Amino acid sequence: MRNDQNDDLALFMAGAEQRLEAALRPAPGDGAASDLLAEAARHLTFAGGKRARCKLAWLFGRALGAPGEAIADVAAAAEMIHAASLLHDDVIDNGSTRRGKPTVNAQWGNLVAVLAGDWLLTRAFHQIEHLPPQVTHDAVRLVAAMTRASMLEVMARGRVQLSESEWRTIAQGKTGALFGWCGQALARSMGEEPKGESFVRCGLRLGAAFQMADDLIDLLGDAGKDRFSDILNRNPSWPVLAAARGSDVIRRSLDVLWASAEPNETRAAETGEQILASGAAAETRRALKQEIAAAIAELDGQGLSDLQQQLSVWADAMIAQLPRDNHAAWTSGIR
Ligand code: IPE
Ligand code: IPE
Ligand code: MG
Ligand code: MG
Repeated sequence: MRNDQNDDLALFMAGAEQRLEAALRPAPGDGAASDLLAEAARHLTFAGGKRARCKLAWLFGRALGAPGEAIADVAAAAEMIHAASLLHDDVIDNGSTRRGKPTVNAQWGNLVAVLAGDWLLTRAFHQIEHLPPQVTHDAVRLVAAMTRASMLEVMARGRVQLSESEWRTIAQGKTGALFGWCGQALARSMGEEPKGESFVRCGLRLGAAFQMADDLIDLLGDAGKDRFSDILNRNPSWPVLAAARGSDVIRRSLDVLWASAEPNETRAAETGEQILASGAAAETRRALKQEIAAAIAELDGQGLSDLQQQLSVWADAMIAQLPRDNHAAWTSGIR
């Protein structure tokens, strides 16, 4: 990316941050309940996330020549919808650490976390209410899709033989739908519906790739979140499923571990190490690169080659930030 584009992006991100700051202040006169909801929502929102959805909105919006104000509103709304989904997800997964801080459920309890998530969703809808009404209609459908995907994921718990296409449906609903909405909302605002449809297809696949990376982070460990949480919660993540498909030993280990509703933490960590030793990290990296290429190809033939190039740089940066895999050198032992 050129230097002047980097400056523009930094300015844009600062503007989006100011919007979030303003959106998450309790309204004067709303009372003590609003103060607590805002405090809990701000605890997560300003704990230092990557702001990946803000950056995607900027890339999609710039490619359409959308006004900066509209891009910043969509970016802030996307980040609030994301934060709401994380508040709810940490209740579902019983998460204790998020963005390097105690989760809201750990600090205030599940009730506050669920209600703060709902409050954040309302703030997100408020942020986009001056854009064409279809943008809000799409956002409502988006939240419904994210909710269904979270439910499907709960229903998939403990299923070692979940198919790749079932995994994809969940990942696209949880993560890809919001990525696509960032582009779709801006395309609607600009009257560019056909481009919006290709942004949705691109976002779904980019989201699946991003979820593969996130699933890998769960195995490799990252300072900001609980490690092996997917294994402990019996969530069939991409690398776990790939390792189970490739090794009877690992499939049996998971069958035993996931036969219990509350797997043992030490055994979960051991199984995670076993999965890494099978070469699952390298396989996940390969698959996610393929998925990114397919996502970018969804934009072919629309005169969007600059955007395609920028998305490729964005994806490379995401891959470069993945934690290192110390098992990469001895991948053949278990199969
Ligand atoms: C984590 O999202 C949950 C997923 C949808 C994969 P991010 O990796 O974007 O989390 P933050 O916003 O940087 O904390
Ligand atoms: C959460 O996905 C994505 C949502 C939209 C709720 P994960 O459950 O993989 O997110 P982390 O790993 O807890 O951040
Ligand atoms: Mg989670
Ligand atoms: Mg995860």
